[in-house]
Amino acid sequence: MSHDYLFLKTCRLQETEYTPVWMMRQAGRYMKEYRLLREKYPFLTMCKTPELVVEVTLQPIERLNVDAAILFADILLPIEPMGVGLEFKESKGPVIDKPIRSPQDVEDLKSVNPEEDLPFVYNSIKILRKELEGKVPLIGFSGAPFTIASYLIEGGGSKNYINTKKMMYIEPALFHELMSKIARVLADYSVAQVKSGAQVFQLFDSWVGCLSPGDYKEFVLPYSKLVLDELKETGVPVIHFGTNSSTLLKLMREAGGDIIGVDWRINLDDAWKIIGFDKGIQGNLDPYVILGSDEYIKDKVRDILERAAGRPGHIFNFGHGIFPQASVEKAAFMIDAVHELSQR
Ligand code: CP3
Repeated sequence: MSHDYLFLKTCRLQETEYTPVWMMRQAGRYMKEYRLLREKYPFLTMCKTPELVVEVTLQPIERLNVDAAILFADILLPIEPMGVGLEFKESKGPVIDKPIRSPQDVEDLKSVNPEEDLPFVYNSIKILRKELEGKVPLIGFSGAPFTIASYLIEGGGSKNYINTKKMMYIEPALFHELMSKIARVLADYSVAQVKSGAQVFQLFDSWVGCLSPGDYKEFVLPYSKLVLDELKETGVPVIHFGTNSSTLLKLMREAGGDIIGVDWRINLDDAWKIIGFDKGIQGNLDPYVILGSDEYIKDKVRDILERAAGRPGHIFNFGHGIFPQASVEKAAFMIDAVHELSQR
């Protein structure tokens, strides 16, 4: 059975007593409890061990008054069974051994059966649903096709997406074929999370802001739409998130999602106007605001709440993930400030 959580009401654009809040990357390194576990296990090992996934997912729920849990996992997990070799290097972040650059590389990508190839994701979700029952709903997530494509093509993180854009502009048919393969994997990977019990879903298109609206429309929108259309059929609310995406909001809305996630580079009221008030909005505090004094944090939280103007459908969040050096106390203060200042 499913509780009618306040968070889910907001996702459905219903009135609530206060504005729900969670933090992207809330399961992670800013928490001492996480760092202690990470001294014992490599990151990928943690992702693949349901017992540890459950523990880390619950850490912020126990410590902070967040209104939702997010599965501890990574957007890159489903690319490992595609056969590209994924490693998380201590100082470099994710590295892909075999970047995808040629027609042969694209052809060699393996198809993925998510439940067989990534059983730990789905087993963790099932356990988490039991653990979280009556507390908060569970958010499942995946990367969006463009963000995943950029990792596959660049072989890791990137500043300028040189190889990605090169493929887009020189071999557009190959880029489309790659996107279509990725979208198939991500749609299956995502829908299976909902079937296992995820009650909300967030699609992370973290790096899409490097694109012009024209390129987004031609090379990205159809593939994000495929994933979002299949998620829509599951009936759970879907958050469609991007950063640096102020100029893409209309197109992201067209691609799909019930709630659009925005970063802090645009004012929340301006963003919501562009997106349309018939959709929800998530955001959009600059995560680094919690470096400031309590008074400063409260002012910034208040400003965003005023821009939301009590309209139903606002999920409070940072505009991007909480950073590893962040103070847990300050994060807790921000969350409590949202609840206090949004009381209706
Ligand atoms: O939100 C949550 O708390 C759930 C867990 C989660 C992680 N990654 C755990 C993680 C989520 C939702 C992600 C998403 C993710 N992963 C994104 C999209 C969100 C965003 O921030 O834009 C991206 C681009 C990745 C890829 C990734 N994973 C990178 C670039 C890195 C290394 C650099 C970094 O930011 O940490 C990771 C590793 C990673 N994913 C860690 C965690 C807790 C750190 C691993 C460690 O302990 O060393």
